[in-house]
Amino acid sequence: MFAFVLLVKFMPVYLVIGGFFGDEGKGSVVGFLALKDKVDICARGGVGPNAGHTVIYNGRTYRLRQVPSGFVYEKSRLLIGPGVLVNPEVLLNEIRMYEIDIKRVGVDKNAGIIEEIHIQREKESAHLKGEIGSTLTGCGQANADRALRILKLARDVDTLRQLITSVPDEIWEAIDSNKRVLVEGTQGTFLSLYHGFYPYVTSKDTTAGTLCGDIGIGPKDVDEVVLVFKAFVTRVGAGPLPGELPADEVKRRGWEEYGTVTGRLRRAAPFNYELAKRAIRLNSATQIAITKLDALFPKDRGKRSWDELSPEAKEHILELERNLGVPVTIIRTGLEIHEAIDRRKP
Ligand code: IMP
Ligand code: MG
Repeated sequence: MFAFVLLVKFMPVYLVIGGFFGDEGKGSVVGFLALKDKVDICARGGVGPNAGHTVIYNGRTYRLRQVPSGFVYEKSRLLIGPGVLVNPEVLLNEIRMYEIDIKRVGVDKNAGIIEEIHIQREKESAHLKGEIGSTLTGCGQANADRALRILKLARDVDTLRQLITSVPDEIWEAIDSNKRVLVEGTQGTFLSLYHGFYPYVTSKDTTAGTLCGDIGIGPKDVDEVVLVFKAFVTRVGAGPLPGELPADEVKRRGWEEYGTVTGRLRRAAPFNYELAKRAIRLNSATQIAITKLDALFPKDRGKRSWDELSPEAKEHILELERNLGVPVTIIRTGLEIHEAIDRRKP
């Protein structure tokens, strides 16, 4: 009985989800957790190649639009769930460019396929391009075709043949043998088709419930939901951004960022408690990760332990915890994967 309790306690299933409008730094949090926890599986859910997750590891910058960010832990299996859209060219390019062992990667047979026609249609849409500020990567059009049940699936694509698997079956087997599973969401809570500022949203829900469905697990398989907030809020594309600062003020504060997929300057605003509380509820968050703390406290850049943090930075984190009622367990202090503080109980 005792051994059983220990196994259950130490072999969790983690979800990592964006708390604001995407670009919270999920990739760096997933990469850090993958290495630290030596995860057996890192599975990517979410929309598809409209997301760009950045991981800086061993002096190299990886920009990942399809491959799960947990690839940095070399023993992990890398899975893309049936709910995720795949652009075969983008995926295969990433695997080649970043020298990832292709045997580590599995794509669910039922994942939807983005074709050139989907990207073309988005580029021709004044609504998506002008009004919404879409990444124009074909995701919305492909999801529309999937809803109409005319979308091609991964099982029908020759170039993916050696990658095809059943992601739910692989994950259930891992869970049943007490392995560690890390699930990476994309975009952010307020880009959700249902819970965001419609129509300024992406083409599907992006919260924890849907993330489970993306890879084929039920809510009760999940042990921890890590909600990622950047120390301030950014958004690319159109739509409301409460508290938005003028571009020169964003630069003055050193909060300037450019999109991974589109290269666009991101709009920015101070941390938003109202949205954060809503995101916690929408995802049933059990832990919070704060990224870019060093943007608020430059002297804390690169710190890797709680004790090293300045009193102001510590107070800032404790204030967040008091207001949000959820523990801040991961604090990122720089862009390199190891520049983070892990406050989880051992
Ligand atoms: P789409 O999903 O490419 O059609 O884009 C719809 C909206 O979501 C636009 O405002 C995009 O800028 C935004 N968006 C989509 N994916 C991401 C992401 O990964 N990070 C940040 N914004 C995104
Ligand atoms: Mg991004």
